[in-house]
Amino acid sequence: MKKLCLLGLFVSLASHQVLAATTPLPLENKDAFITHLMSQMTLDEKIGQLRLISIGPEMPRELIRKEIAAGNIGGTFNSITRPENRPMQDAAMRSRLKIPMFFAYDVIHGHRTIFPIPLALASSWDMDAIGQSGRVAAKEAAADSLDITFAPMVDISRDPRWGRSSEGFGEDTYLTSRIAGVMVRAYQGATPSAADSIMASVKHFALYGAVEGGRDYNTVDMSPVKMYQDYLPPYRAAIDAGAGGVMVALNSINGIPATANTWLMNDLLRKDWGFKGLAVSDHGAIFELIKHGVARDGREAAKLAIKAGIDMSMNDTLYGKELPGLLKAGEIEQKDIDNAVREVLAAKYDMGLFKDPYLRIGKAEDDPADTYAESRLHRAEAREVARRSLVLLKNQNETLPLKKDAKVMLVGPLAKAPIDMMGSWAAAGKPAQSVTLFDGMSSVIGDKANLIYARGANITSDKRSLDYLNFLNFDAPEVVDDPRPANVLIDEAVKAAKDADVIVAAVGESRGMSHESSSRTDLNIPETQRELIRALKATGKPLVLVLMNGRPLTILEENQSADAILETWFSGTEGGNAIADVLFGDYNPSGKLPVTFPRSVGQIPTYYNHLSIGRPFTPGKPGNYTSQYFDDTTGPLFPFGYGLSYTQFTLSDMALSSTTLNATGKLDASVMLKNTGKRDGETVVQLYIQDVTGSMIRPVKELKNFQKIMLKAGEQKVVHFTITEDDLKFYNAQLKYAAEPGKFNVQIGLDSQDVTQQSFELL
Ligand code: BGC
Repeated sequence: MKKLCLLGLFVSLASHQVLAATTPLPLENKDAFITHLMSQMTLDEKIGQLRLISIGPEMPRELIRKEIAAGNIGGTFNSITRPENRPMQDAAMRSRLKIPMFFAYDVIHGHRTIFPIPLALASSWDMDAIGQSGRVAAKEAAADSLDITFAPMVDISRDPRWGRSSEGFGEDTYLTSRIAGVMVRAYQGATPSAADSIMASVKHFALYGAVEGGRDYNTVDMSPVKMYQDYLPPYRAAIDAGAGGVMVALNSINGIPATANTWLMNDLLRKDWGFKGLAVSDHGAIFELIKHGVARDGREAAKLAIKAGIDMSMNDTLYGKELPGLLKAGEIEQKDIDNAVREVLAAKYDMGLFKDPYLRIGKAEDDPADTYAESRLHRAEAREVARRSLVLLKNQNETLPLKKDAKVMLVGPLAKAPIDMMGSWAAAGKPAQSVTLFDGMSSVIGDKANLIYARGANITSDKRSLDYLNFLNFDAPEVVDDPRPANVLIDEAVKAAKDADVIVAAVGESRGMSHESSSRTDLNIPETQRELIRALKATGKPLVLVLMNGRPLTILEENQSADAILETWFSGTEGGNAIADVLFGDYNPSGKLPVTFPRSVGQIPTYYNHLSIGRPFTPGKPGNYTSQYFDDTTGPLFPFGYGLSYTQFTLSDMALSSTTLNATGKLDASVMLKNTGKRDGETVVQLYIQDVTGSMIRPVKELKNFQKIMLKAGEQKVVHFTITEDDLKFYNAQLKYAAEPGKFNVQIGLDSQDVTQQSFELL
């Protein structure tokens, strides 16, 4: 009892920053502090720490506070303001041991200021810009009392049918791993215990992006080599960068759900990778073990999960109910619970909450008068990052940039779409604060008469899709239709276009089409919009497509008809301004695709770094019995790494410092990059390596490095890459990570296809 009082005293003192040197609790020694605390906890209090509760608007706050004060809840998610969270922390401070709560949220691409969706961030290939987005998100989230985010999401996805492609960083292991590290460091800052940092929990561990057929929540079946080589490194990179948490995936892996997977959670994550942080289940995932068919009831599900090392149960219904009985019956051991509790407390310790439970909640008198105040946004940062993420896919006859005094027709269901601009998982972003394309273009054009607008089409005329999108209902109403018939909308647009010098059509997906559980069988722009595009094309006016979408789309026909195409993904709060910056030439586009664009759904998967095969298709020599679909052109519509600029860049042939490399040596691969156009601009020089012959089949190429480089018009620069044996290592059939002697091709290009090549021998 004495100890309890001391702890109570300690916490309340600590929260006022008066840490007496004589404090009997060893706060500065994390392990000792937690051991000491745990020695005072009852079983119920321990289990309470393992429960992560979702706070919905309908939930009775009084009851939640009572539960917290009783020590029955360890943390919440979805309560996202200081006034909401303070009473809950107060309740925790009334609990017997005064263990602080933590407050979590899905801060994925911004918190109040929404940055481009992660797939768009990846398109910038700009680590500073990506880091900037994460840092701002952390500051804003921390200022709203949040302690931890369920991000970054680093699931490699090679199947754009998967709606969550939008939430990850694309198809490539190397690029995603680099971004994973950058994001973790950005969220956590110098330390996750800083008042303006939030803890990162990387997700979804593991392989969620490889769900069969791109259908969300489906199974994953994958060879160990492919896992280790292609899919696991980004999670590992996040953990190596210090991610305090891991969210466990909803899918199964080779027959065992991740949530019950002792190999994944214990052998790989904790033993091999040395992860010491917090493992959180995904929403309701423990209960789903019953539906997966590996647990006969809730009791068995809870047992499997705790045994596998799932520390916290998200939206818990089972840990609280079943763990006491399981322990009593001897089906689980005290150490199973203790290990999990220790990790939860350690995470709270690392977030700085034992030192000050109100670290991010602050004092009531300092609460923002208006949570949504403009002054709380970081618009300049969002605009800068957004314009860096736009990818110019086509620009014939220099249709872009547009002249600022031209008469421009803006058309399409996404031209005035503040909700869609934010993309899915838009955290606390408010649609009313996002700049639409219409807004952005209006500010550039100024003269109202020079910007003609017509809606032209709805997002979709397919009732089934519409009902689905509105069922998602993030910010009601999600998709608002113009009730007029499609032909009336098109006629109106075509008529209005007659007066325009150029047409800009904002077309693609509504944000809900690229979201959790939004898998598609068809990656075309919805038909009603395609009809609009055909009608616009028929006017004979120059046609610019501004695509908004959360995944690669199949735009074969649109690529033929449009004069210019700008891929803008969902570009966030400042999207409209950023897109206008590019359309009117105030910013020269520099983004590159982090995913391959297939020609058709039938080609999927279409990732660039596929394995070599015995009968490869040879461009120009199709022949029979080579690997191809005979009914369409082989190869992607736009390759990985592709993206144009308003200027032109050329690369010289590559110079390699030697034709041999030994295990401890270095090679220098260099090219001369020249800006041969009339504008300053940036591009991404990409280094690929192919292991020509190995003990196993190796990919045709793999990205190994890149540099984003700015050159003034006419300027040139030698770009150097260093290659060492480390760049040549891979997981062999025995899962040993090593390089094998032999021939390697080195390629450098401005995309993954158009490259200059040299070879060397690893001795
Ligand atoms: C998603 C997670 C997310 C969680 C909490 C789940 O449905 O799969 O990514 O973090 O919900 O919102």
